[in-house]
Amino acid sequence: MSTNEELIGRADINDLEAILAVSASDQHEAIRAVKDNADAIFTWDYEKGSRPALNKLYEKAKVSMWNGETDLPWDTVVDQEEVARNNAVLAGGFGDADLTGTPFEKWGDKEWTNLGMEFQNWSLSQFMHGEQGALICTAKIVETVPWIDAKYYASTQVMDEARHVEVFAKYLDTKLNGHYPLNAHLGMLLDDIINDSRWDMTYLGMQIMVEGLALAAFGFMHQLTTEPLLKKLLRYVMSDEARHVAFGVLSLKEYYADLSSAELKERQEFAFEAAVRMRDRFMQQEVWERMGLRPKEVLPIVLNNPSRQIFQQMLFTKIVPNCKKLGLLDANDKWLRHKFEELGVIQFEDLSDTSDEYEAFALGDSELSESTASMTA
Ligand SMILES: [Fe+2]
Ligand SMILES: [Fe+2]
Repeated sequence: MSTNEELIGRADINDLEAILAVSASDQHEAIRAVKDNADAIFTWDYEKGSRPALNKLYEKAKVSMWNGETDLPWDTVVDQEEVARNNAVLAGGFGDADLTGTPFEKWGDKEWTNLGMEFQNWSLSQFMHGEQGALICTAKIVETVPWIDAKYYASTQVMDEARHVEVFAKYLDTKLNGHYPLNAHLGMLLDDIINDSRWDMTYLGMQIMVEGLALAAFGFMHQLTTEPLLKKLLRYVMSDEARHVAFGVLSLKEYYADLSSAELKERQEFAFEAAVRMRDRFMQQEVWERMGLRPKEVLPIVLNNPSRQIFQQMLFTKIVPNCKKLGLLDANDKWLRHKFEELGVIQFEDLSDTSDEYEAFALGDSELSESTASMTA
C-alpha cells in the first residue's frame, strides 16, 4: 500500500510548508523538454464506428468547430480594473471576514483591485499553460491509443486545444496586463502524465482530472464574470471541454472493465496524486508573492475563509462523479473514496457524470459563425 509520502512527497495532505517548498524554477527558459516514454501504436483495424459512442463524439466534434479569430468579439474594450472590482469572488474575495491583525488589515480598494487583477492574470495564464498541456497530451493519445475511433476523435481534440491555447493567449496579450509562468504543481502533474508509458494514464491525468477540473473552473468563472468577451470565450471553450471529458470517461470505462485490482490501484493512486497537485496549484503562491506578501503567512487566512473553501471544493464537481463512473472510487476497499474524503470533496459523487451531460454544453447553430454553421447544415 503506497503512502502519501510516496505518492505526493509528504505525509500530511495539508502540509503547507511542503506545498510551498515547490515553486516554479524554469520560468526563464524558452522551452520545457519532457521525456515521453510511450510507444506510438499503429492499428490495422480500420473499422470506423466499432465503438459507437466514440464515433458519435467524433461526428459531433466535426460539426462543432468554431473559429477563435472570427467567432469572438475581440473588439470588446476590457477595463481590467473595473472587471477586478466587479468580480470580488474571483479575486478570492473574503466577504465579511474579520481581517484585523492580518497582513490585509490596512488594505484599501487599490490593493484589493490589484489583487483581483493579479488573480485574473494568474488564472488565465494557468488556463493557457494547461491548454498547451492538453494539446500535447491529446497529440500523445493520437499516437498511443490502440483504437481507430479514439485516434479519430483525439485528432479533433488536438485542433480544439490549439484553438483554446490561441484564444487564452490572445486574451492575455490584448486584454490583461501581465503573465505568469507555469505553476510548479501543475507542471509536476503535466510531467507525470507525459512521462507515463501507459496510454490510459494520459486520459486519466488529462481528460478526467485536468480537464474535469478545468470544466468546473471555467463554469464557475463563466457564471461570475461580468466581462462579455471572456464570458463568450469561456462558453465556447466549455462546449469543447465537455466533449473532451466525455471522451475520457467513455474510453476508460471500457478499458478499466478488464483491469485487475492491482492495476486499478495504480489508477486510483494516480488520480489521487493528480487531485492533490491541482488543489495545491490553487494556493496561487506566485500571486501572493507578487503582491509582496509571504504565502506562508497569508495562506492559512485565505484557506480558512468559507467562500474560498467552497470554491476549492467546487473544482472537484466533475472529477468525483467521473471517477465514480469509472469504478475508481470503491475499488480496493474504497481506497480513492477515503482519499477524496480526506480532501473534503466526496460529497459530489452523485452529481451527473460528463458522459451523460456533454450534449447539454453544445453550441447552437446560431452560436457558430456562418461559415462554420453552413458546414453543419
Ligand atoms: Fe482545452
Ligand atoms: Fe480540452
